[in-house]
Parts: sequence; structure tokens; C-alpha cells
Amino acid sequence: MRKDFLWGGATAANQCEGGWQADGRGMAIVDVLPQGENRLPVMQGVMDYRTLPEGTRYPGRDGIDLYGHYKQDIALFAEMGFRCYRFSFSWSRIFPTGEEEQPNEAGLKFYEDFIDELLRYGIEPIVTICHFDLPMHLVEKYGSWRSRAVIDAYLRYCEVIFRRFRNKVRYWITFNEINMLMHLPFMGAGIRFEAGENPLAVKYQAAHHELVASALATKLAHEINPECQVGCMIAAGSVYPYSCRPEDVWESMQKDREAYFFIDVQARGAYPNYAKKLWEREGITVDVTEEDEHILKANTADFIALSYYNSRCVRTDGQGEASGGNVFASAKNPYLTCSQWGWPIDPMGFRITLNALYDRYEKPLFVVENGLGAVDVLTPERTVADDYRIDYLRTHIQAMMQAADEDGVDIMGYTPWGCIDLVSATTGEMSKRYGMIYVDQDNDGHGTGERIRKKSFYWYRDVIANNGANL
Ligand code: BG6
Repeated sequence: MRKDFLWGGATAANQCEGGWQADGRGMAIVDVLPQGENRLPVMQGVMDYRTLPEGTRYPGRDGIDLYGHYKQDIALFAEMGFRCYRFSFSWSRIFPTGEEEQPNEAGLKFYEDFIDELLRYGIEPIVTICHFDLPMHLVEKYGSWRSRAVIDAYLRYCEVIFRRFRNKVRYWITFNEINMLMHLPFMGAGIRFEAGENPLAVKYQAAHHELVASALATKLAHEINPECQVGCMIAAGSVYPYSCRPEDVWESMQKDREAYFFIDVQARGAYPNYAKKLWEREGITVDVTEEDEHILKANTADFIALSYYNSRCVRTDGQGEASGGNVFASAKNPYLTCSQWGWPIDPMGFRITLNALYDRYEKPLFVVENGLGAVDVLTPERTVADDYRIDYLRTHIQAMMQAADEDGVDIMGYTPWGCIDLVSATTGEMSKRYGMIYVDQDNDGHGTGERIRKKSFYWYRDVIANNGANL
């Protein structure tokens, strides 16, 4: 890989920070995502979190208490040789309701100390501005991103962080997996549907507001620091046709477009014709002003960040099994094995996805999430022999290197997801572990919170030390 390749790891405030009421932080989406069977309907925006039974547990509120452990955790990242660390700010830590005139200094100070700690070890901070995270006040007052008012709130927050960290943060990502809005609208973007609403229309209007906010944030970041780079981000994974039946091929193209839709706007600066036609067919009117169009055109992303966990597959004959577990509906691909949570494992699909994105956008790619969620067992020697995770990461890194070296895809860096165990976004479990660092905590939040190096910790340390030459 190129010499300046950004090897590192990724987490997000909503799944690991905890400290949900510390230093004046306000309520955010993650604080109302319940543990258990109600989690999915709440994330989908079809169940109101206010109707959840008393005694419900909200695992994101405590996370893994990164808030209280960050110095220790960053020291472990440094020991692995991280060159960068992708994490997110909790918006409501900085603007508790999203509408204050002045930011919460205690929240800003926390991130300042956090970033200084990273820089002390020479670790480049990669900051996601909004990772499934919105002050609940904005959700309640405005119905979240369905309102233009939230663009202003987002920009006020952006301006504060861009100025405060002008000399410290060079890479920003405006929204985590912006296309998740279509699949888990409440978790992804705070959208809860009201009776009688057309969900698709609401989602596309909210998407438009996020896209305008993203473009304006990109503009603002460049004005404040012309040296910084601002990326957009997609939950990626190419969609395969189950067969060469033309209907399957066409359907796979449609499914790919569901995700490309966002990046088509963020990377190319305009709505694609297929989207306009879809809105027409569905009778959807999205409020897009002429000024919005100029903003989108003039402020495209500098790089394209992506998460890749698996490829997807579609068939149109109504036969066969669905692949379980994943939020993206998919037919079961008979050529692939699956994780314990039913997510397909497809390293070659990673190479395919990277090539498809680079062919389409010709902008640098940054792999900011990839990894295997698995049950880990702590051995009596107090480590985890996670060879399955090493296999997953090895084969995916190999595929990424082939994309770079053999196919010429421009890749800036690689930050595997949940480099330290954290709360799963979709299931709320701790037992779905991605980390190279084990956290002694169970699904109910019990445990010592101790951090323990897994076998993959030492393996990944060597990968970074050898710049990927030694897998
Ligand atoms: C991505 C998200 O979709 O996948 C993360 O950006 C999430 O927040 C990750 O944690 C893995 O999903 P899960 O449900 O296994 O935590």
C-alpha cells in the first residue's frame, strides 16, 4: 500500500462513548434505542420509543464508557500502531438540544482533550460529524431531517467544530452511511412515521435536507480550513443478480442505485435522472429549490468513505431463501458462508465494490468500516483466540490490496469497525463483537469493563507495521 496509507480503526460515539448525562450532554437518538425485540421497529420508525415499557434498557447510554476510558483506549490503539482513528462526535454533547446560541464548552473540551491525546501519539483523527446521532430535541420539535430547520442546526454545530479543531482535524465525514436512512430511518436519521404519511416521500425529503446540509458543511469546512478534506459515506456492498436472467440483472441495478443515489449527488453534484423518474412514478414531490441545486453542484465531496461488510444478491423468481440478519434484504447467495448473525462473508465482493465505486466516481475511497461481528470466548489465559476474525480481516485486506495494486483503485486508508468491542448498532448486543480489544462487559452491561488484547490485536499490529506486506 502507499506509504501514507491510513491504517487504523473505527468506532462511533453512539455505540461506545457512554457518559450520556455527563457534563451537560443532551438526549440523542441512541439514548432511546431499546435492547430486545422492540429495537428493530423503533429503528425502522414504525414504533414510537415513547410507548416502550417501563424498565426497558438502553445499551447505548452506557456504551463501553469510552468517555471514562479514552486515555487507556487510545494508548492501546497507539500500541497497535494506528496511524489514524475514525470516531464520531456526539452532537448533543456540544449542542444539548441542537438549538443553543452557544455550544456546551464542557463537551467541546472533552473532544479537544480526546483529539490532543490522539495527536500526542501521532494518530490522525478522522471525525464523523453525525453517526446515527441527532439531539432528540430536534427529532421532537421538527420531526428530524424532514424539516429544513435541522440544516441550520447542523451547520451551527459544524461551524463550531470546524473552527475549534481547525488546526487539529484534517478529515471530516459529514454523515455516517447516509443511505441507512432508507432502511432504518429512525436509527439513521431520527425519522418516525406519522399515520397517513407516504414513508418514501418523507425519506426522500429528509435525504434531500441531509444532502444539502452535507454540501453546505463541505463548503464551510473548506472556507474555514482550505487544507481539510471532507468526505461523504455510503454503506456499500455490490448487489449481484442471482442469475443471468435479465430481470435479476435489472433488479440488481435498481438495488445498487438505492445506495448510489446519495453518492451520485454528493460526488457528482446533481440528482440522477433515474431518481427523478422514480419520484415521478411514485407521485413524490421533493422540495428542491434552485439554490439547493447550485449548492449541491458547487460543493461535492473530496473523498468517498464506505463501509463494507458483505455483498448482496437479488432474485426475481420469488424462489429461494433470504439471507438473514442483515438490514439490506438479500437473497441467499449459495457460494458464500455467513457470520453467526447471518451476514454473508465475501472478500471478493469487497474488491468488486471498491472497483465499482471508483469506476463510477473517480474520487479517492476511504474504507472506514469493515469487520466481522462474532461471539468471542475469553480463555483462562485471558485472551481471545479470534482466528476467525483474523481470517476475515486478512482476506478482506488482500482483496483491498488487489483493488489498489492490480486494479488501480485509489484508496486512502482502512479502519476496521469496532476496533474495540462496542454495542452493536442493529441488535444492541455486546456479544456481537468486532474488536481486536475485548471489553469485559455482557449484553446487560455487567462486567468489569476491563480491556484485553485479543490475538487479532497482535496480528493487526504486524499488518500495520509491515504496511500490509505481511498478512
Ligand atoms: C454500520 C454502522 O452499519 O455497521 C455501525 O455504521 C455498525 O454503526 C456496523 O455498528 C455494524 O453493524 P452492527 O449492527 O453489527 O453493529
